[in-house]
Amino acid sequence: MKTLIILAHPDINNSSNANKVILDALMQKLDIKVKDLYALYPDYKIDVLAEQSALLECDLIVFQYPLHWYSVPSVLKAWVDSVLLYGFAYGEGGNKLSGKKLLVSTTIGGPEESYRPGGHNSFAMSDFLKPLQQTAHFCGMDFINPILSYGMVCIPQGNTSKNDIQRRAECHANRLIDTIDGLKCL
Ligand SMILES: Cc1cc2nc3c(=O)[nH]c(=O)nc-3n(C[C@H](O)[C@H](O)[C@H](O)COP(=O)(O)O)c2cc1C
Repeated sequence: MKTLIILAHPDINNSSNANKVILDALMQKLDIKVKDLYALYPDYKIDVLAEQSALLECDLIVFQYPLHWYSVPSVLKAWVDSVLLYGFAYGEGGNKLSGKKLLVSTTIGGPEESYRPGGHNSFAMSDFLKPLQQTAHFCGMDFINPILSYGMVCIPQGNTSKNDIQRRAECHANRLIDTIDGLKCL
């Protein structure tokens, strides 16, 4: 199964604790292609044909990103808007993604218990992910159960150290790799 990682982290090499660990583990253990959107498109001028051609070649698309304001980082939203076009992803002749799989893998700053009705963040993560879930369905893709990790912000004076984040990120990477391996058997 050909796997394409769409990475949306503003500065993966200099300001990431979690996503860097996850990406490194993926690159070490799996045969994958990675598109680092912020590195490729710092001006947000997305090469639509190049991105569509990468999508045509893969079976599984993984969105890897840190949660930003309950959503995807802005370059990933720009990528979705620019690449998933009429005639390609939907509409007449727009069946090019049909049958492919979309797997969302995101790191979340807040603790898990805050993501519930009445909690600090009011809603479950499954609610915040509904636009992506429906985007997948609209394009005829299978929306795979997302891989989520909470509490991914370092609070040195609190109880979350950089080491804690790295351990959580390693667990996240293992769950992600197991999920991808499992999909190969389907
Ligand atoms: C612009 C911005 C917006 C953020 N929005 C949220 C948010 O809505 N909810 C949340 O729980 N964490 C939020 N965070 C925290 C990030 O999700 C967290 O720092 C990230 O997952 C850690 O991954 P990294 O170490 O790879 O950067 C935000 C961080 C930034 C920089």
